[in-house]
Amino acid sequence: MDGLDQQQAELLARIAEADANALEAIRVGALGKSGTVTLLLKTLGGMSPDERQAQAPAIQGLRTAVADAIAARKAALDATALEARLVDERLDMTLPVGIGAEGSVHPVSQVMDELAEIFADLGFAVATGPEIEDDWHNFTALNIPETHPARAMHDTFYFGEGDRDGEGRRMLLRTHTSPVQIRTMTQTPPPIRIIAPGRVYRSDSDATHTPMFHQIEGLVIDRDIHLGHLRWTLETFLKAFFERDDIVLRLRPSYFPFTEPSVEVDVGYTVEKGRRVIGGDPTGPNGGWMEVLGSGMVHPKVIAAVGLDPAEWQGFAFGTGVDRLAMLKYGMDDLRAFFDGDLRWLRHYGFRALDVPTLSGGVGA
Ligand code: PHE
Repeated sequence: MDGLDQQQAELLARIAEADANALEAIRVGALGKSGTVTLLLKTLGGMSPDERQAQAPAIQGLRTAVADAIAARKAALDATALEARLVDERLDMTLPVGIGAEGSVHPVSQVMDELAEIFADLGFAVATGPEIEDDWHNFTALNIPETHPARAMHDTFYFGEGDRDGEGRRMLLRTHTSPVQIRTMTQTPPPIRIIAPGRVYRSDSDATHTPMFHQIEGLVIDRDIHLGHLRWTLETFLKAFFERDDIVLRLRPSYFPFTEPSVEVDVGYTVEKGRRVIGGDPTGPNGGWMEVLGSGMVHPKVIAAVGLDPAEWQGFAFGTGVDRLAMLKYGMDDLRAFFDGDLRWLRHYGFRALDVPTLSGGVGA
């Protein structure tokens, strides 16, 4: 018995001091196939029943004590190692970005910053709204009632029939940024001048459509606003964005339920070095028109839906695809690549983090 006690005391003392490698050696030496404790346990088989009854508790007790001590020591060593790693691998996020650092600003983020810069200069604030919307903000308040064909045309991602908000409204992923018009008008008294960039969702996918894409909405509400203001604003914006003065606009009558009249805006392009670029003479031999924006005067029913008096307040709204603007300005041709996360694409088309767009420095520099 004394021998066992002494053996246990020695083993526990060595375990308490052991590092990870020594601990494994001790485990094998004591509890392994031919370890000292294992061999002791084996001697029980050759004993008489009386002897075995007398010896077994002590030997099994030794095995348990050693196994427990090893497990406890291993847990303590693991904890210390983790501590050390946490200290060692801590990143100081306040350090300046080093030379050769990876990472770039995605063209969509860059273009959104460019748009915010251009419109801030024209006195527009940036507004946002939720991507999970209800059908009142996304459709009904925008003069698209339940039975309106435009609802079907939007390829909407709906939540379940039972997933409704406190007012019993059906929930969905917003199909455009136009619900931000409604949210802004119900929350802020006019005059209003906002842009609302953000993600939108439609069940659609090919080279020029992805189920998630980005739009930017513009809204102006004031007294005595007319189509001339809309035209001037869009022309000023497009010239600043594409950084060319020779940009021509063509307004075509169109239809949106939430604007009256509605106008689709085409912009003149020319083919330069085999690539379509915005600007130049659209009526020349290398020229043509490209549709870039939907817009119009905010429908009196929409003004009334948010509780304003359409006789007093008018305005215009416009909407366009941010991804598309990025493609046109920076010359990408497949929209899907925007969301693949391919590092080679990001390195090629991405922007340096410190390359913040400014009007003075050039919004696309
Ligand atoms: N919401 C429209 C769309 O997604 C664009 C638009 C916005 C048209 C504002 C007119 C006014 O196509």
